[in-house]
Amino acid sequence: MKDAVTYFKYLKTIGVEYVEPSPATVQALIPAEQKPAAAPPSAASAPKKEEPAIVSDKEAKLAELAAKVTKCKKCPLHKTRTQTVFGSGNPNAEIMFVGEAPGADEDEQGLPFVGRAGKTLTKMIEEPRVLGMKREEVYIANVLKCRPPNNRPPEPGEVAHCEGFLKEQIALIRPAFICALGAHAAHTLLKTNEPIGRLRGKWFDYEGVPLIATYHPSFLNRSPEYKKEAWKDLLMLKDAYQNRRAR
Ligand code: URA
Repeated sequence: MKDAVTYFKYLKTIGVEYVEPSPATVQALIPAEQKPAAAPPSAASAPKKEEPAIVSDKEAKLAELAAKVTKCKKCPLHKTRTQTVFGSGNPNAEIMFVGEAPGADEDEQGLPFVGRAGKTLTKMIEEPRVLGMKREEVYIANVLKCRPPNNRPPEPGEVAHCEGFLKEQIALIRPAFICALGAHAAHTLLKTNEPIGRLRGKWFDYEGVPLIATYHPSFLNRSPEYKKEAWKDLLMLKDAYQNRRAR
């Protein structure tokens, strides 16, 4: 039952508000004493062709992975989390953003980038002079799926335990582009310790997917003078995305 709850919560994060129950589910929910006596089989009650699945295979696999994350106790962060934060957005997104770790708001709501940094990220995505897309069009996840206490930076052991989930998530989404937000995401995905100031503004390859790194929205909130550099990175991403769509 807990898995089912996790699954439906996950569906909500990707915008599925209503799932048509199958006739078998409806039957299973009716108490035996309220069920009408079985009618003899007739042409009208003959088995019908299967309805097309409402949830795609990819969505089902993402939901399975999200359920695994919910149960994860590989590192001590499970003791302090309110809930895990798997990711949200379009499972068929062409652009995937990867941040660092959930903060207090994300831990409370179970969704990534919903606090102050999230507001800035939404602007970066939606501002017509920057990326000019809808937030729902992209996919957003973090390196860590649990909040580090007091928003301290992720520890190497935590990243090592959690990284596999992110890898699987990226492999399932199969985005055309990845945007790493901040040093932790860039270092985890690119296996380098170069400062983010030296990584931004260039294209890298993450397992065949073009990856661009930029400053983290929280850093931009603290140091708005770096926004113009971040906007340049996002314009590079926009260019590549639009060129791909024009092909
Ligand atoms: N910062 C992050 O890196 N991720 C979030 O989800 C929120 C803030």
